[in-house]
Amino acid sequence: MDVKALVSQMTLEEKAGLCSGLDFWHTKPVERLGVPATMVSDGPHGLRKQDQKGDHLGVNDSIRAVCMPAACATAASFDRELIHKMGEAIGDSCQHEELSVVLGPAVNIKRSPLCGRNFEYFSEDPYLAGEMSAAYINGVQSRNVGTSIKHFAANSQEHRRMSSSSNADERTLREIYFPAFETSVKKAQPWTVMCSYNRINGVYASENPWLLTEVLRKEWGFEGYVMSDWGAVSDRVAGVAAGLDLEMPSSGGINDRKIVEAVRAGKLDEAKVDLACERVLNIVYRYLENAKPETPWDQEADHLLSAKIASECMVLLKNNGLLPLSKEDDVAFIGEFAAKPRFQGGGSSHINCFKTTSALKAAEGLKVTYAQGYSAALDTATDAQIAEAVEAAKKAKVAVVFAGLPDSYESEGYDRTHMRMPECQNRLIEAVAAVNPNTVVVLHNGSPVEMPWIDKVGAVLEAYLGGQAVGIATVQVLFGDVNPSGHLAETFPRKLADNPSYLFYGGEGNEADYREGVFVGYRYYDKKEMDVLFPFGYGLSYTTFDYSNLRLSASEITDKDTLTVTVTVTNTGDRAGKTVVQLYVGDKESTVLRPIRELKGFEKVALEPGESKDVSFTLDKRSFAYWNQQIHDWHVETGEFTIEVGQSSRCIDLTGTVTVNSTVALPKHYTMDSIFLDIMADPKAVQALKPMLDAISQTLTPIKDEESEAAQSAITEEMNMAMMQYMPLRGALSFGGSIDPKVLEELLDKLNQG
Ligand code: BGC
Repeated sequence: MDVKALVSQMTLEEKAGLCSGLDFWHTKPVERLGVPATMVSDGPHGLRKQDQKGDHLGVNDSIRAVCMPAACATAASFDRELIHKMGEAIGDSCQHEELSVVLGPAVNIKRSPLCGRNFEYFSEDPYLAGEMSAAYINGVQSRNVGTSIKHFAANSQEHRRMSSSSNADERTLREIYFPAFETSVKKAQPWTVMCSYNRINGVYASENPWLLTEVLRKEWGFEGYVMSDWGAVSDRVAGVAAGLDLEMPSSGGINDRKIVEAVRAGKLDEAKVDLACERVLNIVYRYLENAKPETPWDQEADHLLSAKIASECMVLLKNNGLLPLSKEDDVAFIGEFAAKPRFQGGGSSHINCFKTTSALKAAEGLKVTYAQGYSAALDTATDAQIAEAVEAAKKAKVAVVFAGLPDSYESEGYDRTHMRMPECQNRLIEAVAAVNPNTVVVLHNGSPVEMPWIDKVGAVLEAYLGGQAVGIATVQVLFGDVNPSGHLAETFPRKLADNPSYLFYGGEGNEADYREGVFVGYRYYDKKEMDVLFPFGYGLSYTTFDYSNLRLSASEITDKDTLTVTVTVTNTGDRAGKTVVQLYVGDKESTVLRPIRELKGFEKVALEPGESKDVSFTLDKRSFAYWNQQIHDWHVETGEFTIEVGQSSRCIDLTGTVTVNSTVALPKHYTMDSIFLDIMADPKAVQALKPMLDAISQTLTPIKDEESEAAQSAITEEMNMAMMQYMPLRGALSFGGSIDPKVLEELLDKLNQG
């Protein structure tokens, strides 16, 4: 379709109309020219295709669909191929249901465990979030339907989500809150991007030209259309100018009229409206020209795929040897989640499942008994329920308590206020563990919880919100049919107050200051050398792995080169299993504040018992760089970097070192206020100012006491240096001597001119 030609035939009113939705879920048609409406739908871990009467409360049911594991779980798989497969299945179902775009993935960073939508987001780490997101997008779009990566950007809280301003410096945005979007655009080119509700440093994302045009399109090369989150538009005319192409769901015609008026009044360039229409129509036709409504959607097959994915995501947090269980053992399943698992979160991603399989159902045929233990909906455990659970636990060899967060504890639309599990469930776990030393806890939750009972139980399996078939996966892992291989995509702090955003999270009124800067998640806990409950990247297996033979392709490179890092991994146990090889980079000495280590590579590797494989990673400039706010670009500071390879952020098996030389000289500007420390660190400045520095040094050097010179000179000079280094050039003048300020100024001018 020649979209440009099509747009050139439209009236201004028709074009303005195309800049907002027809209703909750459709783009507008232009009947006169034969342009049809196309439908978009939530996701992202299944379809929430609703009819015209859209809502987020489940009042109007969506179609029966398949609920795959939520992003909190899939991120823990650390498996790009797996999430690509999930994307393919979602893409096929979109084709079947005639959906042009699925609204996801959601990639906002988990700044605090409190964010109500953490269950939908991937990670506290931008590299991991970006890799998983790109894999998902590539999977969906391989089926010729689009994705809408969301919520762009810095939408890491639900509290006041439609008015709050996420205030962060550019470095923090570039290093932490942007890369998941950036990587996705560069590696997967999502058909659409959804801008967030919030403001960023005061400007609504929906009308932020820096965000939507400078960064997203000009820097990263985004080619699709930007749509607003549902109701995220404040000033539509400013939005069109800024690069917001499509307002969703619709403004009832009000904003369409405003666009027309603005163009007529000369306040908005019509070319911007044309561009928005072209971008929307490009995607409309990319879908239409590749639509395949005859694509089959085998929901039973997707149910099993969902189980398979869930089984690869579960994280074994603790195991004193209790797991895997034997199928011969008498096992008590305790807790309502065993029969009715919590497997998805609330809000716009809520799927109307065509079926669910609980662990209790999946364990049919095994020697499993059941006691309800508590009511999740009522958030209570009666004495009778606890007594029944204790009796069941006493009779069984192993007690498995299914616990976690009930629906009301975490959801889109609001944040949690604490990190605790329901008190009644903690009580139940304590009561069961008191009568049965073989107690296992299975957790269903979308974000970290405190575990006051951790030392009293033998094993803990984090199942997250694992989708409608989570029960199948849980039983497979508990009984050893699947060897767990998930690793945490987020730190579990011991308590909420340990979290770096604790003091500022939520903000004051509409101002949410991201004061912890780049020190989010393990970047903070590691720097602070803090004890955590479970670190980022952590996860146990039923087998063991050995990492050896770290090889770096060079010991010294420039920031234009790449470095290949290779490591040998071996399965040293007696079961097949998968390990997640994690590569972290750290700047050993830096003049800017940087984390100890940052994830820059990971690979999930399957190994038979005794088998070894070599795993290689390629690092480039970006792996070593930080965002320099002076040059507004990535920059590597010359020096040594650590290359750490391990099985979690706190389990580093191998460490190497590489020197990276920068090829970029940062611009420098010196004045009379420049201090000696900075001048002396710059050979160019030392050279240029040499005549003056000599004179200054003579003026400032203390007269030495001849008798004690040998004993004291070293200390005196050292102390002198330590004191003087912070003195500005102008300070030297006040000490008198032969320094001519005019000459000094001239030398500075010359130096600054290059
Ligand atoms: C959510 C989006 C969602 C949209 C449509 C918004 O409230 O923030 O994630 O895609 O609604 O349901």
